[in-house]
Amino acid sequence: MKNPFTFGRVVDGKDYCPRPEHEALLRQSIESGHNVAVIGQRRVGKTSIILRTANTLPKQHLLYVDLLAVNTVAEIGERIGRAYIKLGHAHGFLQQAIQLFAKLRPSVSFDPITGTPSVGLAVDRSQSMQTLEDVLDQLLAGHKRDPLIVVFDEFQDVLRVEDPQKALALMRGKIQHHEDLPYVFSGSIRSKMRMIFNDPDSAFFKSAITLELEPLHLEQFEAFLTKHFEYGNRKTDADLFKDIAELGIQITGDVQQLCWALWEASEEGDTINKDTITRALERIFTLERISYEDTVSELTDVQRRCLVSLVKTGGQSIHSKLFKETSGVAQSSSITKAVNRLLDRRIVYKYRKTYQVANPFFAVWLSQKEYL
Ligand SMILES: Nc1ncnc2c1ncn2[C@@H]1O[C@H](COP(=O)(O)OP(=O)(O)O)[C@@H](O)[C@H]1O
Ligand SMILES: [Mg+2]
Repeated sequence: MKNPFTFGRVVDGKDYCPRPEHEALLRQSIESGHNVAVIGQRRVGKTSIILRTANTLPKQHLLYVDLLAVNTVAEIGERIGRAYIKLGHAHGFLQQAIQLFAKLRPSVSFDPITGTPSVGLAVDRSQSMQTLEDVLDQLLAGHKRDPLIVVFDEFQDVLRVEDPQKALALMRGKIQHHEDLPYVFSGSIRSKMRMIFNDPDSAFFKSAITLELEPLHLEQFEAFLTKHFEYGNRKTDADLFKDIAELGIQITGDVQQLCWALWEASEEGDTINKDTITRALERIFTLERISYEDTVSELTDVQRRCLVSLVKTGGQSIHSKLFKETSGVAQSSSITKAVNRLLDRRIVYKYRKTYQVANPFFAVWLSQKEYL
């Protein structure tokens, strides 16, 4: 039997564990014509729940636009146009979609084997604000013909473009007139999403209902995961999921990754327990070790000590006596500087006033390396 656990990509079908409450909230907001901002850490399951919910709404096409690492205003317009033309291809309105975005001079070619379209657009970069404005107008025109739900994923990355406030003001100006066109804005970096939606100076202030998505609750998730193990004739120890949580592996996608490795490290008839966890972690470390070592070797001595101490102390307070003793770094200002660097490099992120290592497997690996 094939490994039934999935991580690192959007899940659907039998890989998707239902989260009825959040799905209902999301569905109701969309149906009532409100725009929604879905905020949650990476790998909690934002994209999966949004796609799943939007796809269950009848008579609406889902226009999914990923804004991850977008760098320019022109690119925002391009990504929207490209996504719309692909949607047109998938749902039999390719010609209309191409006409709608004629200004961007679209050219469509198809992969000879898979038939997947790839879309080329010619955007005049000196006119990028105008282009984005046109693209949003065209979306509304398209929506009038074939109703849409628009999803902007990793929306906080709009802040990366030059003059982001101007881009946001433009988008907001258009979107507020798209009354019956629902928009979902999803984002992983809480502080930045809050800056966009909760700061009175931001164009998007209070323009969307906020849905904070937490990792799947273990109570719900445990039954789902246990069943997957049972299909493969593997039993699970009564404390298995408690042990996993105690290792600090709690985010939806990370739990799935560990279960994937538990499956690989076991055989039919086995009971999955603490020993299996040890072997499963070894598998993950084997796959990821080089990137851990690269990360560590790029740190300064103080940064490395602070990182290890965050792991050892749980990341609550970086200026406590305990933290200073554990890290051997006495100066508060040095600690602040080092931790800020770890945050900038996204090795660490801030969650409810504590500092967490972004990759929990890396954290376990660090905690096992006594020499670091
Ligand atoms: N509803 C779900 N049921 C089971 N696993 C899920 C679910 N949602 C997310 N996951 C797990 O988390 C991973 C990341 O999901 P994704 O939707 O891409 O998260 P995000 O968009 O928040 O980063 C998936 O590959 C899967 O392992
Ligand atoms: Mg996502």
